[in-house]
Amino acid sequence: MRYTLTARLLHWGTALALLMVGLIGLWLAWAAPEDEAFKLRLYNLHESFGISLFTLTLLRLLWRWRNPPPPITPPLPPAMARLAFATHAALYALLLALPLVGLMATNAWGFPLAAFGLLPIPSPVGKNAALAPLLSTLHTRLALALGLLVALHAGAALWHHWGRRDDTLTRMGFRRPGGGEGI
Ligand code: HEM
Ligand code: HEM
Repeated sequence: MRYTLTARLLHWGTALALLMVGLIGLWLAWAAPEDEAFKLRLYNLHESFGISLFTLTLLRLLWRWRNPPPPITPPLPPAMARLAFATHAALYALLLALPLVGLMATNAWGFPLAAFGLLPIPSPVGKNAALAPLLSTLHTRLALALGLLVALHAGAALWHHWGRRDDTLTRMGFRRPGGGEGI
């Protein structure tokens, strides 16, 4: 049994969007372009897709509540199931916390966000010079934590597929050569 098509699309859509948001974030942090207008557009893209990920994650949790994940065959030992659950819970928590902290950071620096240049997004904090650097540091650390967790998560998925040879990854729509269906 696989995850629903909606759950699979939400999962791989999240992965793709996260990759893009993360890469633009690193670009801005390490090699920001000189051209001021282009740089501001990159910031807006990073922030707009980041906020979209927040919404997508809320929708995803709502969908998961209505459509619980299918069982894994053969079943996982209880300790492993608990570890997987904890990792997924932490991934969801970071997918919600990171954009929120980012939003508060930009507002604290004095740059309110209009998503995709159109939709004003309200922030729980306004301009605040004392808070801004703290929120930025927190944003960086949470991004690092999410990156490490995603690496662990993807490694675990590959281990389930090629090491333990269970159906964890095929449930998420990944095709095994010579058998099963893709997404
Ligand atoms: C899941 C979503 C997000 C991810 C994975 C992410 C990741 C990153 C990464 C890797 C960086 C570069 C490291 C750094 O300098 O801190 C960065 C920077 C930044 N991000 Fe995000 N981000 C996300 C969402 C957001 C959102 C929604 C906003 C604002 C609305 C935002 C605002 C910023 C800003 C302003 C910076 C420049 C660095 C700084 O604050 O000093 N981010 N982000
Ligand atoms: C890049 C960012 C990624 C994020 C944020 C992410 C996040 C998540 C989350 C939160 C779940 C839990 C789904 C549920 O509610 O049951 C999940 C499940 C899963 N993910 Fe990812 N994922 C990412 C990338 C990947 C990659 C690259 C792979 C494969 C190499 C992968 C394979 C899987 C599999 C197989 C499951 C099902 C696990 C299970 O049901 O126990 N994910 N992912």
